[in-house]
Amino acid sequence: MLGGKFLRTVVVPALLVSSSALILVSHSRTSGASTAAAASNHGTSRLGVGVEGSSRKDYVGDAACKACHQGVESTYEHTAHHLTSRLPNKGSLVGKFAPGSNTMPTLDPNLHFVMSSGKGGYFETAVFGKPPDEVKQTERIDLVVGSGERGETYLYWKGDRLFELPVTFWTPLNEWTNSPGYRDGTADFDRPVVPRCLECHATYFSAIPSEAPANRYHKAGSVLGISCERCHGPGREHVELEKAAAQHAQKTPGSADAGSGEHRSDAQNGAQDLKIVNPEKLSRDRQIDVCAECHAGLGEDRAPAFSFVPGQVLSEYLEVQPLEPNAKVDVHGNQVALLERSRCFRSSTKITCNFCHDVHTRERSAASYSDRCLTCHKVESCGLYPKLGQELAKNCIDCHMPVQDSNLIVSNVGGKEIKMRIRNHWIKVYADAAGQQ
Ligand code: HEC
Ligand code: HEC
Ligand code: HEC
Ligand code: HEC
Ligand code: HEC
Ligand code: HEC
Ligand code: HEC
Repeated sequence: MLGGKFLRTVVVPALLVSSSALILVSHSRTSGASTAAAASNHGTSRLGVGVEGSSRKDYVGDAACKACHQGVESTYEHTAHHLTSRLPNKGSLVGKFAPGSNTMPTLDPNLHFVMSSGKGGYFETAVFGKPPDEVKQTERIDLVVGSGERGETYLYWKGDRLFELPVTFWTPLNEWTNSPGYRDGTADFDRPVVPRCLECHATYFSAIPSEAPANRYHKAGSVLGISCERCHGPGREHVELEKAAAQHAQKTPGSADAGSGEHRSDAQNGAQDLKIVNPEKLSRDRQIDVCAECHAGLGEDRAPAFSFVPGQVLSEYLEVQPLEPNAKVDVHGNQVALLERSRCFRSSTKITCNFCHDVHTRERSAASYSDRCLTCHKVESCGLYPKLGQELAKNCIDCHMPVQDSNLIVSNVGGKEIKMRIRNHWIKVYADAAGQQ
């Protein structure tokens, strides 16, 4: 399929489009040339380009890393990346299924939803009408998307097709709402889940190649959560190398570190190719690309979902919107475009996403990132220094990277609009920050 014309229907996931009356935007695109070019760049052996999943054999999964990187693994398990998609079971859900807090009324007095749990799992039911003339549609929650930090949205299988469920749990409100972009007073169980949604929220889904519908997957091939290898590339060669090194070291008494292996116990240690991508060793553009696959907006795909490998040029796989300098960028899911607008970013080559974030551990408090600002700025260089003095040092963040409403992720409930609140990554002076303390 690589050589031929590659036709794919791109359906914009609901969460990334404006909520208004719009349910689904779809368009078809032929991208034969660029796809083939992107794929031939790195040969097929390392890539999951074959949607069948056969070339996925170089991906070994998180369990394989655990043996040697237990420290990283044990903190990573608690991150939003790891938890961003998972199976529903007791303890993994933030939604409230107990009677008393498990219903959601809608604008239509003849429609309400009930979220319940039972022997067969967890369910969403749309109830039309009033007893004794009720009509119900029930679907089982098969997958959970969203770590629950802000909320979780559910998906269900109908055969090999994956659909989104109409009711979402919104954590800051501690309430059930219509899923983002769904119209209040409707019960829409037919919204297909396209590969791009899963590409951002899971490790791998093997799509069944077909022109339509675009939401058919091999259930067996899926890996939930975001794995180590999404940022580090396929790990098989690295694991084999390190296992061999460890065995070699065991057989060679006196070797200091069994894990590192004798073969690179020389001073050249750091320069050794360990057959795994360490993003920190990439150029700044390629480092940002690793995160931009999921943090630079929806974009348009030029290659099948899940085929990008860290270290490669992302634009060959995914065209992220080239934004006009004055275009408004929503705070949701586009930290890259926003950060890139900052003078801090443009006037220094030092800043990458991991300059501030350690993605192997849970997010720490926003204010604590102020020390990152102070590697370049002095407290005194803030315009408010004369007024607030050293007090400023406690929190540069809330004034210069404020949390704001997203206009892309909007839910409607009880006639209210609820917007997801997200931190703006455009570091600058905000007009209303002067009053904040
Ligand atoms: C058999 C042991 C072993 C296994 C399994 C293993 N690693 Fe490693 N890894 C090492 C050792 C040893 C190093 C050398 C650096 C160190 O001491 O941490 C290393 C280094 C790394 C580096 C840094 C590479 C560099 O160039 O700086 C990354 C990233 C990494 N491993 C990721 C992974 C991932 C992801 C997995 C699972 C797919 C994995 N490792 C599985 C032993 C292992
Ligand atoms: C969201 C992307 C992402 C994920 C997921 C991720 N890493 Fe990393 N990893 C990075 C980045 C970026 C660096 C370089 C900066 C740093 O060291 O934090 C890195 C560095 C490393 C290193 C070398 C530096 C060190 O800390 O020793 C190892 C080893 C490593 N990762 C292992 C893992 C393992 C094991 C997992 C899965 C449990 C994992 N990573 C998941 C992005 C990621
Ligand atoms: C495969 C897609 C993907 C990649 C690659 C990725 N992220 Fe994410 N990231 C997400 C998603 C999805 C979320 C939201 C998770 C949730 O809360 O459900 C997220 C959340 C985060 C958060 C918030 C964490 C929290 O605890 O709330 C940070 C910070 C972050 N990502 C940074 C990074 C950085 C830095 C990189 C690159 C080194 C990166 N991400 C790469 C998909 C990705
Ligand atoms: C381009 C990548 C991308 C796509 C596509 C995408 N998301 Fe997200 N999603 C994110 C990121 C990144 C976040 C974290 C908030 C932020 O940075 O805006 C997030 C946040 C969320 C959250 C809130 C998680 C939390 O607890 O904080 C849910 C729920 C969610 N997405 C569901 C979905 C569903 C369902 C789809 C597909 C129908 C989807 N998203 C499509 C990247 C994406
Ligand atoms: C100058 C420091 C800095 C840089 C650089 C940076 N971030 Fe952040 N980021 C933050 C802070 C501070 C927070 C808020 C943490 C919190 O609330 O706990 C944050 C939060 C996030 C979140 C969660 C959004 C939310 O509203 O909770 C995501 C996703 C994220 N960053 C992704 C990225 C990505 C991707 C990059 C690179 C394009 C990046 N960040 C670069 C400081 C930074
Ligand atoms: C790697 C160095 C570096 C880091 C880290 C950094 N900045 Fe900057 N920042 C700069 C440079 C350089 C400028 C441009 C100064 C100039 O041109 O006079 C700048 C400009 C600014 C401006 C003025 C922006 C404008 O549009 O006029 C503000 C406000 C600012 N930084 C705040 C912060 C805050 C808050 C943080 C932490 C979240 C931070 N910076 C992190 C280097 C950095
Ligand atoms: C209470 C909100 C607030 C806090 C906290 C704050 N700032 Fe500011 N900062 C502002 C405002 C408002 C301005 C614009 C002042 C003006 O133009 O007079 C500004 C201006 C700046 C500038 C730009 C100065 C210029 O020449 O354009 C920098 C750089 C800066 N702040 C850095 C920081 C750093 C670093 C911290 C943390 C140590 C910090 N700020 C904490 C509100 C804040």
